[in-house]
Amino acid sequence: MTKKPGPPRRADVGAIASLLKRLDSILAGSRQEMVPRLRALASEVDQMVPYYDGHMIRVTFYAMAIGLRMKLPQEDLLTLEIAALLHDFGKVGVEAVTLDKEESLSDDESAEVRHHAERGYHIVSGFPKLERVAHIIRDHHERYDGSGYPGRKQGHDISLLSRIIAVADAYDAMTTSRPYRRRMTHLQAVAELVRHAGRQFDPGVVEHFINSEDVAGMAAKPPAGRPGGRRPAAAGHRRAV
Ligand SMILES: [Fe+2]
Repeated sequence: MTKKPGPPRRADVGAIASLLKRLDSILAGSRQEMVPRLRALASEVDQMVPYYDGHMIRVTFYAMAIGLRMKLPQEDLLTLEIAALLHDFGKVGVEAVTLDKEESLSDDESAEVRHHAERGYHIVSGFPKLERVAHIIRDHHERYDGSGYPGRKQGHDISLLSRIIAVADAYDAMTTSRPYRRRMTHLQAVAELVRHAGRQFDPGVVEHFINSEDVAGMAAKPPAGRPGGRRPAAAGHRRAV
């Protein structure tokens, strides 16, 4: 039977408390300074999670490229940017040994990793200004066909901004190396997104991602992340990240 993930370890409670204090001060400050300060906070979270190396910043870049391509209203773009910057906040507290593991995860380990979406939701929903952001974070691992988590939501029951982050997150996961598999090229990752459009991903969002000039520009650059890994990534079979 799968064990329910336990509370964060003591060291993580301290780290989370300090991040929350910073988040509180950012939200109390000026709106103009909010995004740059959130970027700095996201970079710090990236450094606290093994193998992340700028994951939240890159996911934000891809998500914003999609949002701009879709011509989302300014308010939605701001919400998207904040949600993307904080989308994996709940990973702080997941055991490093689990995230770094080369072998397949046990049911318990898998449940612990998956719990990050709900943990992120609970952390961020403590801030009234971030109520919408919290819901987007909770749903960023839902899948278009209803096979995702935590709520097994389907299609447009998943908010558009969560569907955008799901595509951006998957692309970054596939094009960066992880201990358990090697990275894909831009074209291989795009082929995976297309292959899983309509199942894992919203096909409309995938189309906007592929047609984004910002993303085409990124494709010319070498992929990020450290070298290594053993197997090529695959969108549909990638670990719950
Ligand atoms: Fe995630």
